[in-house]
Amino acid sequence: MPGAGVPREPIAAPVIAWQRRHGRHDLPWQGTRDPYRLWLSEVMLQQTQVATVLAYYPRFLERFADVRALAAAPLDDVLALWSGLGYYSRARNLHRCAQAVVAEHGGVFPRNAQALAALPGIGRSTAAAIAAFAYGERAAILDGNVKRVLTRVLGFGEDLALPAHERALWQHAQALLPQRGIEAYTQGLMDLGATLCSARAPACERCPLDAACVARLEGHPERYPVKTRRTQRGSRHNALLWLSHADRVWLTQRPPVGVWAGLWTLPLFDSAPALQALIGPWPGKSDGLPPIDHALTHFDWRLEPWRHQLPARLSAVERRGIEAALPAGRWFTLAEALALGLPAPIRKLLQAAY
Ligand code: ADE
Repeated sequence: MPGAGVPREPIAAPVIAWQRRHGRHDLPWQGTRDPYRLWLSEVMLQQTQVATVLAYYPRFLERFADVRALAAAPLDDVLALWSGLGYYSRARNLHRCAQAVVAEHGGVFPRNAQALAALPGIGRSTAAAIAAFAYGERAAILDGNVKRVLTRVLGFGEDLALPAHERALWQHAQALLPQRGIEAYTQGLMDLGATLCSARAPACERCPLDAACVARLEGHPERYPVKTRRTQRGSRHNALLWLSHADRVWLTQRPPVGVWAGLWTLPLFDSAPALQALIGPWPGKSDGLPPIDHALTHFDWRLEPWRHQLPARLSAVERRGIEAALPAGRWFTLAEALALGLPAPIRKLLQAAY
């Protein structure tokens, strides 16, 4: 790797000038130094695109105007507002973090990146972004997009699957920080990573770092970053029971850890035969619905929904027998169900009937 670890020219000044001219300036979390708002935006933006976050961010702030309001809210309310953003551990950590800020810091966010990174759900890069935007601290960010930008500029071809190499890249990121203009520089790296410096077809001809970029000189920017150990994707298959009685549907709450933790869902079964064995003796009628394919981080999930409508007239004894056989849960009207924290595919399924 020629010149690995050293850009061919300084990078901060062109990044800052480019951000000021071509970067994003009108996002709702820009133009504030309020760490609560910045923290919320950064957590939402982990793994989620700006366009999606734009729809959730104002609604969330309307309901939880500050960290105390969020800390005092029931977790179910937080999950309900997060519903559809995915990666729900973020919502649970968000709630825990708000409670820690109130309990341990008197409701005031810590004023530097290192202390921020000690809070639940705030990793090193997120802490640095908040500290840079809120307090002007010279702290390096290194999320997935920024790794791509920096490994290319530096010609850093070491395997980031190894922690030692990742640590080395953090050191480079820190060494490249400007003395002034950390806010525009930080936003500029994010904006470059999200726009021009894309994974497969980077727009090098429009990039302010084209002269500095080692990967561009080598002619194959798409070869960076190097990361060998990919997570193995698995696949899973489950059946879903959509059980209705009058205008209600039976929902269960997922356990606090694992997939869809804490969210409400239609009951899940290991297989369609396991589901059918349960509902076989029940009165009413059943239909198989088209399968839903849902991709999660570590596996592809095929969900086979079965809809079973119980007769409107059901003796209390019969109804109690059915409820006792079901996974623990409750009946909800569709309107009530849609106000809960539901996984996106379940929401979509129920909405289609609404
Ligand atoms: N991705 C992560 N943080 C971001 C931010 N502050 N603006 C735009 N995209 C981002």
